[in-house]
Amino acid sequence: MARFERIALITGANKGIGLEIARQLGQQEGVTVLLGARDEARGQEAANRLRAEGISAEFIRLDVINHQSIDQAAGFIEGKYGKLDILVNNAGIFLQEKEPSENDVATLLQVYDTNVFGVFRTTKAMLPLLRKSDNGRVVNLSSSLGSLTLNSDPGFELASFLVLGYNSSKTAVNALTVFFANELKNTRIKVNSADPGYCATDMTGHAGSRSPAQGAIAAVRLATLPPDGPTGVFYNEDGPVPW
Ligand SMILES: NC(=O)c1ccc[n+]([C@@H]2O[C@H](COP(=O)([O-])OP(=O)(O)OC[C@H]3O[C@@H](n4cnc5c(N)ncnc54)[C@H](OP(=O)(O)O)[C@@H]3O)[C@@H](O)[C@H]2O)c1
Repeated sequence: MARFERIALITGANKGIGLEIARQLGQQEGVTVLLGARDEARGQEAANRLRAEGISAEFIRLDVINHQSIDQAAGFIEGKYGKLDILVNNAGIFLQEKEPSENDVATLLQVYDTNVFGVFRTTKAMLPLLRKSDNGRVVNLSSSLGSLTLNSDPGFELASFLVLGYNSSKTAVNALTVFFANELKNTRIKVNSADPGYCATDMTGHAGSRSPAQGAIAAVRLATLPPDGPTGVFYNEDGPVPW
C-alpha cells in the first residue's frame, strides 16, 4: 500500500447518499473506498459499479445494528490496510411514525438502534484504526430535522414535521459528534456532522429536491478537511447549521 493511500469506510453505501459519498471520495486521488452494506448482493453490485468507473472500491459487510459484523469489518480493515483514514457514518432509517403523543417506545428503539447506537458502535469499533491514520476524519450524517434551534423557531418550514424518533435521533447524532470531537480534540482525528439537505432517495420516496450527489457534498468536504480544519461542527453545503 502506498504511504499516501487513504482508506475510507462508508456505512450504508450501497445506495442513496452513501453511494454518492463513496463515489465522490473514490474519485479523489489515492482514496480507496470500502462500501459498507448489510446485504452482500447489494453491496457487491454497488462496488462493481464504482470499480467500472475506475474507482478503487471494495464491498465490506457491515450491519450497524450487529456488533459482530462491525467487529468483523474492523478486523478485516486492520488485517488488510492496518488503518482507517475516513469513517462516514451514513447508514440510517426513517420509519413511519405517529405524532409524538401517539408514538411508542418500540418504534423509538428501532430508529435509535440504527441511527444513534449504530453510529456509536461503528465509531467506537473503528477508533483504534482511525488513531493509526495521520488525518483521521469521522463524518456523521445528520439533518436539519435534528436541529433543536431550528425546531424551536415557529418560522422553521419543517417545524410541523413532528417525527420524534427520526428527528431526535439526528439530535443525538449531533451530540455524539460534539462529545467524540471534544474527547479527541488533542488528536489528529476530527469528528463532524453533515446535513445533506432534502434529497431524492429511497428514504424520501424520491421526493427530495436535491440529488444524492448534491447531498454527498457536505459530507465529502468534512471527510477531506485539511489538518487546520474544524472539529465538532455541523455543516451543510453552504456552511454551519445551528445545533
Ligand atoms: N435523503 C434525505 O433527504 C436525507 C436528509 C437528511 C439526512 N439524511 C440521512 O442521510 C443518510 C442516508 O440517507 P439516504 O437518503 O441515502 O437513505 P437510503 O437511500 O434509504 O439509504 C440508506 C442506507 O442505509 C443502509 N442501512 C439501513 N440500515 C442499516 C443497517 N442496520 N446497517 C447497515 N446499513 C443500513 C441502507 O441499506 P439497505 O439498502 O440494506 O436498506 C442504505 O444503504 C441517512 O443517515 C439519512 O438519515 C437523508
